[in-house]
Amino acid sequence: MKAHSDIKRIMFSARQIQERVKQVADEITQDYKGKRPLIAGVLKGAWIFVADLLRQVELDVDVDFICVASYGGGRTYTSGEVTLLKDLTLDCKGRDVILVEDIVDSGITLSRIKEMLLERKANSVRIAALLSKPSRRKVNVEINYLGFEVPDEFVVGYGMDFDEKFRTLQDICVLKKEAYSS
Ligand code: PRP
Repeated sequence: MKAHSDIKRIMFSARQIQERVKQVADEITQDYKGKRPLIAGVLKGAWIFVADLLRQVELDVDVDFICVASYGGGRTYTSGEVTLLKDLTLDCKGRDVILVEDIVDSGITLSRIKEMLLERKANSVRIAALLSKPSRRKVNVEINYLGFEVPDEFVVGYGMDFDEKFRTLQDICVLKKEAYSS
Protein backbone atom coordinates (compact mmCIF):
# COMPACT_ATOMS: atom_id res chain seq x y z
CA MET A 1 0.00 0.00 0.00
CA LYS A 2 1.14 3.57 -0.65
CA ALA A 3 1.78 4.84 2.90
CA HIS A 4 -0.46 7.71 3.93
CA SER A 5 -0.75 9.36 7.32
CA ASP A 6 -4.55 9.80 6.95
CA ILE A 7 -5.13 6.03 6.73
CA LYS A 8 -6.16 4.29 9.96
CA ARG A 9 -6.07 0.68 8.75
CA ILE A 10 -6.61 -1.66 5.84
CA MET A 11 -10.12 -3.10 5.79
CA PHE A 12 -9.65 -5.35 2.72
CA SER A 13 -6.30 -6.02 1.10
CA ALA A 14 -5.86 -6.02 -2.66
CA ARG A 15 -5.62 -9.80 -2.52
CA GLN A 16 -8.83 -10.23 -0.52
CA ILE A 17 -10.60 -7.92 -2.97
CA GLN A 18 -9.40 -9.89 -6.00
CA GLU A 19 -10.54 -13.19 -4.47
CA ARG A 20 -14.01 -11.84 -3.76
CA VAL A 21 -14.29 -10.10 -7.15
CA LYS A 22 -13.59 -13.43 -8.85
CA GLN A 23 -16.40 -15.11 -6.85
CA VAL A 24 -18.86 -12.35 -7.76
CA ALA A 25 -17.78 -12.59 -11.41
CA ASP A 26 -18.41 -16.34 -11.38
CA GLU A 27 -21.95 -15.79 -10.06
CA ILE A 28 -22.66 -13.31 -12.86
CA THR A 29 -21.21 -15.66 -15.49
CA GLN A 30 -23.48 -18.40 -14.23
CA ASP A 31 -26.63 -16.29 -14.04
CA TYR A 32 -26.29 -14.66 -17.47
CA LYS A 33 -25.21 -17.71 -19.51
CA GLY A 34 -26.34 -17.26 -23.12
CA LYS A 35 -27.13 -13.57 -22.57
CA ARG A 36 -25.22 -10.41 -23.38
CA PRO A 37 -25.82 -8.04 -20.47
CA LEU A 38 -25.27 -4.31 -20.61
CA ILE A 39 -22.88 -3.41 -17.82
CA ALA A 40 -23.44 0.09 -16.52
CA GLY A 41 -20.63 1.25 -14.26
CA VAL A 42 -21.45 4.12 -11.93
CA LEU A 43 -18.65 6.69 -12.03
CA LYS A 44 -16.51 7.69 -10.62
CA GLY A 45 -16.10 5.31 -7.71
CA ALA A 46 -16.78 2.05 -9.58
CA TRP A 47 -14.18 2.36 -12.35
CA ILE A 48 -11.62 -0.03 -10.82
CA PHE A 49 -14.26 -2.56 -9.73
CA VAL A 50 -15.79 -2.54 -13.23
CA ALA A 51 -12.39 -3.17 -14.83
CA ASP A 52 -11.47 -6.01 -12.48
CA LEU A 53 -14.92 -7.61 -12.45
CA LEU A 54 -15.42 -7.65 -16.21
CA ARG A 55 -12.04 -9.20 -16.87
CA GLN A 56 -13.20 -12.15 -14.75
CA VAL A 57 -16.71 -12.46 -16.19
CA GLU A 58 -16.79 -15.07 -18.95
CA LEU A 59 -19.54 -13.55 -21.10
CA ASP A 60 -19.88 -11.18 -24.01
CA VAL A 61 -20.95 -7.89 -22.50
CA ASP A 62 -21.54 -4.31 -23.56
CA VAL A 63 -19.90 -1.81 -21.24
CA ASP A 64 -21.09 1.69 -20.57
CA PHE A 65 -20.80 4.26 -17.80
CA ILE A 66 -23.10 6.67 -16.07
CA CYS A 67 -21.74 9.42 -13.87
CA VAL A 68 -23.69 10.83 -10.96
CA ALA A 69 -22.80 12.73 -7.84
CA SER A 70 -24.52 13.07 -4.51
CA TYR A 71 -21.60 13.57 -2.13
CA GLY A 72 -18.62 15.47 -3.52
CA GLY A 73 -17.16 18.78 -2.37
CA GLY A 74 -15.69 17.15 0.74
CA ARG A 75 -19.08 16.01 2.07
CA THR A 76 -19.28 12.66 3.91
CA TYR A 77 -23.07 12.51 3.86
CA THR A 78 -25.43 12.31 0.91
CA SER A 79 -27.09 15.52 -0.20
CA GLY A 80 -30.12 13.40 -1.15
CA GLU A 81 -29.94 14.96 -4.62
CA VAL A 82 -28.56 12.71 -7.32
CA THR A 83 -27.17 14.81 -10.14
CA LEU A 84 -26.73 13.13 -13.51
CA LEU A 85 -23.35 14.29 -14.79
CA LYS A 86 -22.99 11.86 -17.69
CA ASP A 87 -25.69 9.61 -19.10
CA LEU A 88 -25.25 6.16 -20.66
CA THR A 89 -24.40 6.31 -24.34
CA LEU A 90 -26.01 2.95 -25.14
CA ASP A 91 -29.76 2.41 -25.32
CA CYS A 92 -30.91 0.23 -22.43
CA LYS A 93 -34.38 -0.50 -23.85
CA GLY A 94 -34.99 -4.25 -23.81
CA ARG A 95 -31.55 -4.91 -22.31
CA ASP A 96 -30.55 -6.89 -19.23
CA VAL A 97 -28.60 -4.28 -17.33
CA ILE A 98 -26.18 -4.84 -14.46
CA LEU A 99 -25.45 -1.66 -12.55
CA VAL A 100 -21.97 -1.84 -11.05
CA GLU A 101 -21.30 0.31 -8.02
CA ASP A 102 -18.44 0.62 -5.55
CA ILE A 103 -20.52 1.24 -2.42
CA VAL A 104 -24.15 1.37 -1.38
CA ASP A 105 -24.65 3.69 1.55
CA SER A 106 -28.07 5.40 1.79
CA GLY A 107 -29.13 3.49 -1.33
CA ILE A 108 -30.46 6.69 -2.89
CA THR A 109 -28.04 6.76 -5.85
CA LEU A 110 -28.76 3.23 -7.03
CA SER A 111 -32.48 3.34 -6.44
CA ARG A 112 -32.70 6.53 -8.56
CA ILE A 113 -30.60 5.08 -11.37
CA LYS A 114 -32.47 1.77 -11.34
CA GLU A 115 -35.81 3.60 -11.47
CA MET A 116 -34.58 5.67 -14.42
CA LEU A 117 -33.43 2.61 -16.40
CA LEU A 118 -36.71 0.79 -15.78
CA GLU A 119 -38.59 3.88 -16.99
CA ARG A 120 -36.50 3.60 -20.15
CA LYS A 121 -37.80 0.03 -20.51
CA ALA A 122 -34.71 -1.96 -19.64
CA ASN A 123 -35.74 -5.64 -19.61
CA SER A 124 -34.13 -6.18 -16.20
CA VAL A 125 -31.88 -4.21 -13.88
CA ARG A 126 -29.70 -5.96 -11.33
CA ILE A 127 -27.11 -4.49 -9.03
CA ALA A 128 -23.54 -5.55 -8.35
CA ALA A 129 -21.91 -3.62 -5.51
CA LEU A 130 -18.49 -4.20 -4.03
CA LEU A 131 -19.44 -2.82 -0.61
CA SER A 132 -22.65 -2.25 1.29
CA LYS A 133 -23.17 -0.33 4.53
CA PRO A 134 -26.61 -1.56 5.62
CA SER A 135 -26.59 0.56 8.79
CA ARG A 136 -26.73 3.73 6.64
CA ARG A 137 -29.59 2.69 4.40
CA LYS A 138 -32.37 5.25 3.84
CA VAL A 139 -34.12 3.54 0.96
CA ASN A 140 -34.48 -0.14 0.30
CA VAL A 141 -32.46 -1.35 -2.65
CA GLU A 142 -31.85 -4.97 -3.58
CA ILE A 143 -28.20 -5.84 -4.12
CA ASN A 144 -28.04 -8.93 -6.33
CA TYR A 145 -24.26 -9.38 -6.24
CA LEU A 146 -22.37 -8.15 -3.20
CA GLY A 147 -18.66 -8.16 -2.42
CA PHE A 148 -18.59 -7.29 1.27
CA GLU A 149 -20.92 -5.91 3.91
CA VAL A 150 -19.07 -3.24 5.91
CA PRO A 151 -19.61 -1.32 9.16
CA ASP A 152 -20.20 2.42 9.23
CA GLU A 153 -16.61 3.56 8.78
CA PHE A 154 -15.34 5.94 6.12
CA VAL A 155 -13.61 3.83 3.48
CA VAL A 156 -11.37 4.93 0.63
CA GLY A 157 -9.22 3.30 -2.02
CA TYR A 158 -9.95 0.90 -4.90
CA GLY A 159 -11.77 3.75 -6.68
CA MET A 160 -13.33 5.35 -3.61
CA ASP A 161 -12.35 8.82 -2.52
CA PHE A 162 -12.59 11.50 0.06
CA ASP A 163 -12.59 14.87 -1.68
CA GLU A 164 -11.09 13.16 -4.79
CA LYS A 165 -8.12 11.77 -2.84
CA PHE A 166 -7.16 8.11 -2.19
CA ARG A 167 -8.93 6.60 -5.25
CA THR A 168 -5.75 4.86 -6.46
CA LEU A 169 -4.95 2.98 -3.24
CA GLN A 170 -4.88 -0.74 -4.04
CA ASP A 171 -6.45 -1.75 -0.72
CA ILE A 172 -9.75 -0.62 0.75
CA CYS A 173 -8.78 1.45 3.76
CA VAL A 174 -10.43 3.16 6.71
CA LEU A 175 -9.76 6.87 6.87
CA LYS A 176 -8.83 8.48 10.19
CA LYS A 177 -11.68 10.56 11.55
CA GLU A 178 -9.53 13.67 11.80
CA ALA A 179 -8.87 13.47 8.05
CA TYR A 180 -12.50 14.20 7.21
CA SER A 181 -14.00 15.83 10.28
CA SER A 182 -11.72 18.88 10.48
C1 PRP B 1 -20.60 7.42 -3.89
C2 PRP B 1 -20.61 6.01 -4.42
C3 PRP B 1 -22.03 5.79 -4.81
C4 PRP B 1 -22.79 6.65 -3.83
C5 PRP B 1 -23.41 5.74 -2.79
O1 PRP B 1 -20.54 8.31 -4.96
O2 PRP B 1 -19.74 5.86 -5.51
O3 PRP B 1 -22.29 6.22 -6.13
O4 PRP B 1 -21.85 7.53 -3.23
O5 PRP B 1 -24.10 6.47 -1.84
P1 PRP B 1 -25.65 6.36 -1.57
O6 PRP B 1 -25.98 4.91 -1.48
O7 PRP B 1 -25.80 7.09 -0.26
O8 PRP B 1 -26.39 7.06 -2.66
P2 PRP B 1 -20.08 9.84 -4.86
O9 PRP B 1 -21.28 10.74 -4.96
O10 PRP B 1 -19.17 10.02 -3.69
O11 PRP B 1 -19.28 10.05 -6.21
P3 PRP B 1 -18.02 9.25 -6.80
O12 PRP B 1 -18.52 7.87 -7.18
O13 PRP B 1 -17.66 10.06 -7.99
O14 PRP B 1 -16.92 9.19 -5.77
